[in-house]
Amino acid sequence: MLRHAGKILARSRFAIAFTGAGISAESGVPTFRGFNGLWRKYRPEELATPEAFQRNPKLVWDFYRWRMKKILDAEPNPAHYALAELEKIGVLKAVITQNVDDLHREAGTENLIELHGNIFRVKCTSCSYRENLKESGRIQNFVKSKDLPKCPRCGSLLRPDVVWFGEALPREALERAFRLAEKADVVLVVGTSGVVYPAAYIPYIVKERDGKVIEVNVEKSGITPIADVFLRGKAGEILPKLVELVRGSK
Ligand code: APR
Ligand code: ZN
Repeated sequence: MLRHAGKILARSRFAIAFTGAGISAESGVPTFRGFNGLWRKYRPEELATPEAFQRNPKLVWDFYRWRMKKILDAEPNPAHYALAELEKIGVLKAVITQNVDDLHREAGTENLIELHGNIFRVKCTSCSYRENLKESGRIQNFVKSKDLPKCPRCGSLLRPDVVWFGEALPREALERAFRLAEKADVVLVVGTSGVVYPAAYIPYIVKERDGKVIEVNVEKSGITPIADVFLRGKAGEILPKLVELVRGSK
């Protein structure tokens, strides 16, 4: 199966990757639904919806500061580096991710589409102010502070620049992702339960146009029914082997 997946990728004309929280699990970043998932412990309706933020911004900011700290301590794992490598050797044209943890970018992926935003970016609840806290160098103080963060321009409350349940995805990112999926003849699906839409449409768009779906996951998911190849196992172990096979048959 691994050899077969390596051949499909090596022969691909336009391969893309579609990733979820599972690709960051081996970096120590909690997933949402799998074993030990965040939504097993917390109720997303209380932490990741506009209503929750309206009702209790302090609780929501405590949750996001806790996640920011966890992700700041995390490093990309071999799976992230493997995708960056596949892009470098010209096989992977883009990574479309549902993750907000910035680990694909840290591992060197260039053509990256973040469908659900980025946890290190904040935006104002009133004006158009946006800030990437890593780039502005404010991240360390930001995660240590206990105060509700305010917009430096208009004084309103700042919120995480991530997509909450019930919110629209960033239009430009979604359109780019759909256009890439329409061009792709192979999609490498890694570490997603495939149950959150519209992101989970990506592999279906490739499938509908007779593209090949290769899935890497420790268990079956909502995408497995359309997978041409299902590689059961940890992304950090499988993807580096896949890169070696692709390199060998290039
Ligand atoms: N290697 C590969 N797959 C893994 C690994 C691993 N080491 N560890 C866990 N997985 C798989 C799990 O089996 C599961 O199928 O990763 C998947 C994680 O699924 P979710 O936790 O549902 O994460 P994701 O699919 O990214 O969730 C989508 O839901 O909460 C929203 O916005 C949030 O982007 C997120 C979206
Ligand atoms: Zn503002």
